[in-house]
Amino acid sequence: MRAAHRGYRAVAPENTLPAFEAASGRFSFVELDVQLSRDGIPVVIHDETLLRTTDVLFLERFSGRAPWRVAAFSLEELRALDAGSWFYRDDPFGTVAAGTALPVRKEIVRIPTLEEVLRFAAAEELLLNVEIKDMRGSFEAAVVIDRIIGTIEAAGCTSLVFISSFNHDYLKRCRIRCPQLVTAALQEGSHPPGVVDYLRELGVAAYHTEDSIVTEALVKRVREAGFFVGVFTVNDPSRSAELFGWGVNAVFADRL
Ligand code: G3P
Ligand code: MG
Repeated sequence: MRAAHRGYRAVAPENTLPAFEAASGRFSFVELDVQLSRDGIPVVIHDETLLRTTDVLFLERFSGRAPWRVAAFSLEELRALDAGSWFYRDDPFGTVAAGTALPVRKEIVRIPTLEEVLRFAAAEELLLNVEIKDMRGSFEAAVVIDRIIGTIEAAGCTSLVFISSFNHDYLKRCRIRCPQLVTAALQEGSHPPGVVDYLRELGVAAYHTEDSIVTEALVKRVREAGFFVGVFTVNDPSRSAELFGWGVNAVFADRL
């Protein structure tokens, strides 16, 4: 299984509708990153600040708002930003120069709300991995879970979505709030000691780990215990083949 990491982000601006449209039908599922706006609306964006993937720095209206944290902007303010042009300017994957990126859209590409992406996924029957970014310091965990799970429930998408997070407390809260939602623990740096018991205790169905810490023995242990195993981010086809050979279920990739 291949997951589109932040959408098909080698050909379109990450975490935007064009990137999700490009991924639909080409990947087994699509991963996206969700945070809350200042007024508590779930929006789809990866970084804690707006600098890399929007034009916030160039707008007079927002000068003096450094460091431009997502959580400090209302939905109305976030929707005023251009979340697409940076991709064509910075060409992070060299696909713009190579002519393999999607053409620039006439209309401005905005930061999507989670609700918009859920509507698109429901229409396309597209499986989504909603990654909840760690918002400690900005919002109470209970608020984060309530707003995000509430949005998924209201859209009728609980069977089309699974939740992941590096913040494992969020995952426990998801299970309590909505037991039918599947959850995945994200891990980087090192594996928790006694990883299988740890995952059982957490009650997750899946373990998604950083590529640099994966070993064949780890995959075997976690798979044999019945967990789904995903690895991020893998863009090298020979590495993907090796991981699939070890029994990994899914790799997260920026390109096909
Ligand atoms: O879910 C896998 C991957 O998206 C986690 O890392 O930083 O790209 O959200 P990041
Ligand atoms: Mg992510």
